[in-house]
Order: sequence, then structure tokens, then C-alpha cells
Amino acid sequence: MARDIHHNQPRPIHSQETRSTVPSILKPLSIGAVTIGFPVVQAALSGYSDGPMRIVARRLGASYTLAEVMIDRFVLDLKARHRTRRHLLVTDEEHPVGGQLMGSEPADFGPAAQKLVSAGFDVIDINFGCPVKSTAGACRGGFHLSQPDVALEIVSRTRAAVPDHIPVTLKMRRGVDDSTESRDRFFQILDGAFERGVSAITVHGRTVEQKYVGPSNWDFLREVKQHAGSKTILGSGDLFTAQACLDMFQITGVDGVSVARGAIGNPWIFSQVKALAAGLPLPEPDLFEQRQVMELQFGLCVQVSDVPQALTTMRMFGMKFAQLHPQHSEVRNAFAAAQSVEGWHGVLDRWYR
Ligand SMILES: Cc1cc2nc3c(=O)[nH]c(=O)nc-3n(C[C@H](O)[C@H](O)[C@H](O)COP(=O)(O)O)c2cc1C
Repeated sequence: MARDIHHNQPRPIHSQETRSTVPSILKPLSIGAVTIGFPVVQAALSGYSDGPMRIVARRLGASYTLAEVMIDRFVLDLKARHRTRRHLLVTDEEHPVGGQLMGSEPADFGPAAQKLVSAGFDVIDINFGCPVKSTAGACRGGFHLSQPDVALEIVSRTRAAVPDHIPVTLKMRRGVDDSTESRDRFFQILDGAFERGVSAITVHGRTVEQKYVGPSNWDFLREVKQHAGSKTILGSGDLFTAQACLDMFQITGVDGVSVARGAIGNPWIFSQVKALAAGLPLPEPDLFEQRQVMELQFGLCVQVSDVPQALTTMRMFGMKFAQLHPQHSEVRNAFAAAQSVEGWHGVLDRWYR
């Protein structure tokens, strides 16, 4: 099915189209025993979806968020030290929240998953999507898609290790590459994972080889949903606007959509989908609201780490929030140049008065 594939970069909010029709296909989402509700969730985003980003997303309308991927061995080695404790920090207002694991050895997944459950994560998600090769050359993330036996062993071990009421889910790319073998392995893993008790699978419609080049294949997502029948499938890829989220539901029939790059610096996307789905005008945050949310996120960052780390994180986020500003390139450059907390707040004073 044809669609505009050129929106593969975040677009400013004010350039969004609105649509008056209300799709009747948005049904409340559940992941196993965990009730999610509105079926638009925030994806796991390495380097971004830390506690503060997740809290901001939840306060602004995301029904579920995922922490950034953690390597299983890293989780097992984590101590309650100040610098690293934030990785296992789950606050009351975040529930339901998912913790995501990636690794190479099936035996490491069970103990790491148990540690995430003890930390308070409500769902354990297994990453079969990351296209970054391990420095040690070990097979992990998306590269497990080339070895269904190992992938399914990981699923079995994880499912067996965590309590029954904690759902185990998967994140998969649509294959390692475009070959028929890769496609067959994808469906072998998908079917095998559901047979082993996985509650939902999020599919990113790009291959591992593709990384982030070219469009996410939504036709494939439609095929996966048709194949999976009543099993829960979430779609991922190219969700940069509220309209794109609704389009994915309509085009693919998935049960939920997972907003990734489209939520970095635009946590309003969740309430925008809600409004659009209800036939209401698109809420657009004014500069004052943007400033309030950035200040909130900065404060949350300081609480979970320290001021230098918060500054590094919020410099990066500021550059992403700048995409909503009418003078986005100047504001982006100003955030990039902020070398101190005063400098960072100075950007707000100058551009977000
Ligand atoms: C910076 C960045 C970090 C990501 N980190 C993760 C991650 O930790 N776990 C994961 O499953 N996917 C991760 N992804 C993939 C996204 O969740 C999503 O599947 C992908 O970006 C496609 O969606 P999009 O085109 O709407 O951004 C990451 C993507 C980006 C761009």
C-alpha cells in the first residue's frame, strides 16, 4: 500500500496535517495481565529513555514506556552505587513500565530478568532488534534473528525465570536482511515465541542490515498482524507525527504503536494522537509550555544523577526540543553551545520567554 515514505526525519509540530475522521480501530491495549489502555506507547530508546524521559512522557499522555536497552551482563553486575543506580530506578508514577534486555548467552537472561522484576519493572522485553554489533563480536540484539534456536532458547529461559503475572515481550526487526531465509526465520521466531508464552511482539519494519536507512516496511507489519491473528502486535518505524500513528493503525491493523524518534523532544505526540483520534484539534504546545517541560525534565535528571550528567543529558534533549521552535536551527545551536547549567537556562531565557 502506498504511503509517504519521505517523513523519515522528525518534522516540526506546526507542519502537521489534521484529519477530521476518527478511526474506530483504536482499542485499549493490554500486554498479558498488564492493562496499558490507550495503544500508543513510548519505545525503548538507548541513550534517551531514562527515568526522566519516561516520567515526562507518562505525565503528558503516554500509556506505557520502556527503559533503554540494558545488556544482561551489565544488569547482573549493577550495584546500588550512586552513578549507576538510576538504571534500575523505577518510580511509582511510571507504572506500567517495561525493562528491556539484550545479550548473547541464553543463560544470562533469566537472572537479569529477575533483577529487573525486583527493581519494579512490570514487563520484561527482549531485544532482537538492535543493529549495533557487539564490540566482542558476540551475536546479540538483531543478530539473534539469524539463529532461531538460540533466540527461542532466550525466550524460554526468560519466560521460565520471571513470575507468571509478569509479561515477557519481544522487540524484533523484520529480519536480518531481505532474503527469503531471513523472512522464514522471522516467522519461526515469532510463532515460537508466542508458543513459549510471550505476550506481545513489537515489530520494527526495517531489517538489521538496513539500520535506519530507508523506510520502515508497513506492508510487512500488516502481514505480520494478519499472520498473528488475535496475538498482540505493536508496530514500529517512521512514527514522527500523530497522524503517522493513526495511519499505522489503519494501514497495518496492529494492536499498538511504539513511538520512538518521534517522541524525543516531542512528548506531546501522545496527547496529539489522543486528540486526533477523538476528532479534536491538535494540541500544540506553546513556547512557555515547552520551557516548563524542559525545566521539569532537567529537575528530574538532577534528582536521579547529578548536575553535570543532567546538563549533558539536557543539552542533548534541548537540541531535540528545538525542532518545535520556529527558529529551530538557532535554538539547536544555542543548546549545543551551552557549557554550564546557567548557560542552558540562558537558552530558555533567550528563546522561550
Ligand atoms: C537513538 C535510538 C535508540 C534506540 N534504542 C533502542 C533500544 O534501546 N531498544 C529498542 O528496542 N529499540 C531501540 N531503538 C529503535 C526504536 O525503538 C524504533 O524501533 C526505531 O527507531 C524505529 O522507529 P522510528 O523510525 O519511529 O524512530 C532505538 C532507536 C534510536 C533512533
